[in-house]
Amino acid sequence: MRAVVLREHGGVDVLQEEEIETPHAGPGEVRVRVHACALNRLDLWVRAGLPGLRLAYPHRLGSDVAGVVDEVGPGAPDSLAGSRVLVNPGLSCGRCRECLRGDDNLCASYRILGEHVSGGYAEWVTIPVQNVLPYPEGLGWEQAAAVPLVFLTAWQMLVRRARVRPGDWVVVHAAGSGVGSAAIQIAKLFGATVVATASSPAKLEQARALGADHVSSYDQLVDVVRRLTGKRGVDVVVEHTGKATWESSLRVLRWGGTLVTCGATSGHEAQTDLRHVFYRQLSILGSTMGSKADLHDLLPHVASGRLRPVVDRTYPLSEARQAHLRLESREQFGKVVLLP
Ligand SMILES: NC(=O)c1ccc[n+]([C@@H]2O[C@H](COP(=O)([O-])OP(=O)(O)OC[C@H]3O[C@@H](n4cnc5c(N)ncnc54)[C@H](OP(=O)(O)O)[C@@H]3O)[C@@H](O)[C@H]2O)c1
Ligand SMILES: [Zn+2]
Repeated sequence: MRAVVLREHGGVDVLQEEEIETPHAGPGEVRVRVHACALNRLDLWVRAGLPGLRLAYPHRLGSDVAGVVDEVGPGAPDSLAGSRVLVNPGLSCGRCRECLRGDDNLCASYRILGEHVSGGYAEWVTIPVQNVLPYPEGLGWEQAAAVPLVFLTAWQMLVRRARVRPGDWVVVHAAGSGVGSAAIQIAKLFGATVVATASSPAKLEQARALGADHVSSYDQLVDVVRRLTGKRGVDVVVEHTGKATWESSLRVLRWGGTLVTCGATSGHEAQTDLRHVFYRQLSILGSTMGSKADLHDLLPHVASGRLRPVVDRTYPLSEARQAHLRLESREQFGKVVLLP
């Protein structure tokens, strides 16, 4: 099959298009013919290399796959053959206490498709049957592929961790990121008032079109929130931009407010003035991915159109390098998607 593979870490040049062996579905697995595979910031991190990550080469990136089941392995239900599916990128053992409790993203052997095991930058991918999700009817391949990883992440951040409620004020950083574009919509779905940030006036306009009630540049956020909420501040900040925004994210919270973070795009060594944390009684929560069941909970909202994936641009698989450059240059608003 045609695939874009990595044999070493580095810049976009390490992405090589090759002919490699077509995989077959093993026990408890299905094989999916990939029709679309969305990029995530994770693809850039894995391409560049992450501490402790050892890959089996040739490695295929790609966590977010939409396609058709075309081979069913032993023990997987034959009824799946021929069905259009979306793939849940979170892999776990399925047997431990955390998995059985529904906290599978806390499983000791939790792995992500495209990061720890080969993913969707190819014509076919094999996945465990537990990772098959119903296809949200009415969506094109590229829209469907834009859903799983970032909507799951933003859902756990807002719904499970920060417990967003109607009437809350929520800051969402980087409206044009995958996580940000999902978080704006989820916060609105739960009745919050959203203040979104982005780096350009054009992106701030797009944030409003997505449902943000108010917008701000990164630099102006503290002043904008002060003006909007008086001295109160916001209830929740959705953080993933990291070092560059961390201090203002803490400053804009109300007393007792919650910062939830899933990433550190601009750097991970951020400064925290501990006096703000204890005196103003802030909660700082970490979040990674979400449970398999959470994706089942959020997909009906996608199918009904209440949550909609934002696709920036599509590229043929052979142009994976250009797709990476688009994300790296911060030009995108929403998801960049490959079409094998
Ligand atoms: N822990 C998890 O489970 C999890 C899951 C998903 C994502 N993440 C993390 O969350 C972050 C967002 O992921 P994503 O896939 O949504 O990202 P993305 O679509 O690539 O968007 C990243 C955005 O970050 C903004 N940004 C702010 N400061 C930046 C800087 N100094 N350099 C580069 N970009 C900067 C840019 O916004 P402008 O458009 O305003 O320029 C850029 O568009 C990443 O750090 C990712 O690793 C974590
Ligand atoms: Zn487990």
